[in-house]
Amino acid sequence: MNVPFFNYEARYAQDKEVIKDMIFRVGTSNNFILKECVAAFEERIRQYTGAKHAIATCSGTGALTILLRAMGVQSGVDVLTPAFSFISTASTISLLGGRPVFVDVDPRTGMMDPNDLEAKITPNSRVVIPTHLFSVMADMRAINEIAARHQLVVLEDSAVSLGASMQGTMAGLLGKAGLYSFFPAKPLGGIGDGAIIVTNDDELATRCRMLRNHGQDGITRFLHHHLGYNHRMDETVALYLTHKLERFDSLIARRAEIAGQYHEAFKSLAPQIEVVLDDDYERVYYTYVLQAEDRDGLRHDLHERGIETQIYYPEALPLQPAFQHLGHKRGDFPHAEGIAKRSLALPLYAEMQDEHVQYVIESVMAYSSKVNAYV
Ligand SMILES: Cc1ncc(COP(=O)(O)O)c(C=O)c1O
Repeated sequence: MNVPFFNYEARYAQDKEVIKDMIFRVGTSNNFILKECVAAFEERIRQYTGAKHAIATCSGTGALTILLRAMGVQSGVDVLTPAFSFISTASTISLLGGRPVFVDVDPRTGMMDPNDLEAKITPNSRVVIPTHLFSVMADMRAINEIAARHQLVVLEDSAVSLGASMQGTMAGLLGKAGLYSFFPAKPLGGIGDGAIIVTNDDELATRCRMLRNHGQDGITRFLHHHLGYNHRMDETVALYLTHKLERFDSLIARRAEIAGQYHEAFKSLAPQIEVVLDDDYERVYYTYVLQAEDRDGLRHDLHERGIETQIYYPEALPLQPAFQHLGHKRGDFPHAEGIAKRSLALPLYAEMQDEHVQYVIESVMAYSSKVNAYV
């Protein structure tokens, strides 16, 4: 049996005709970018999340750039960011001239460790970026409390967490601002790149809107209040996302159902194979990541059985060649480095067939008993 890690074919199968119609409709409308489809999508995201403002952008990376610029990140400003994450957060800080100050992660969850955050705050720290990865959320209560004491602005990297919530507040709205990415692999995957910023802050929202479109205010064309970007969303992307948002809750429910089956099967395998079991927040499963002592052995075994897996992420960010100039060395971020060695993502998507889910479970269990037999 072959179980692909992603299955875009299945993912978009039911929308083929809809997508064709949408492309025809937008392609012949003379309205291609940042028009009524984008405005309608922003309105739907406001309704779905409860955000006061939603600002659609070209990508999650673009959204982070706009937000960090709007929050005043530039040369001389330090931004606290997790040592284990996708590169977007740390790279956008650097590209704006700021300095990423890496914070180690909680070894159990892989999310920003509040104790290390407090230890890493510098006199130039202005912003902290807690990131929620895979399906796990950062400890927002502790991070918000530390941020309030040190006057740090909290930018939640909720790129993969649309639909997740903590005590009734959506991920993305637990700090000053957040964002959701609609890269096709994400839980609400689009037909191209795209993302949206959410915030309840009027002033920040106004600044983000202007920065998205070359510093213009949306009223007077070619009047540029600031130097901004072309980080706008296309109408086709917005139209499709609005359509897909209608069934988003059932898509994330199916993801949670599969994750529940994985949890049930794998919880007995600790400490050799560990998963983060449910916490006191509503999770949305982007990918299903486990920690395995012999990650590469497990990955090889699953590959031999036709199961494709991914490693998110194979190296702690401070040790990436792109951040060599910051002078970090192996051992500086023990938990991030450990997780980079042990993480393995299993296939998980709403369209996955039950027999594939069962096959993945059987294969992980078989590997585990084989390894136990050698011990
Ligand atoms: C946690 C996180 N932040 C930011 C991004 C960037 O989003 P995009 O790919 O839309 O630029 C990603 C994308 O994978 C992500 O996983």
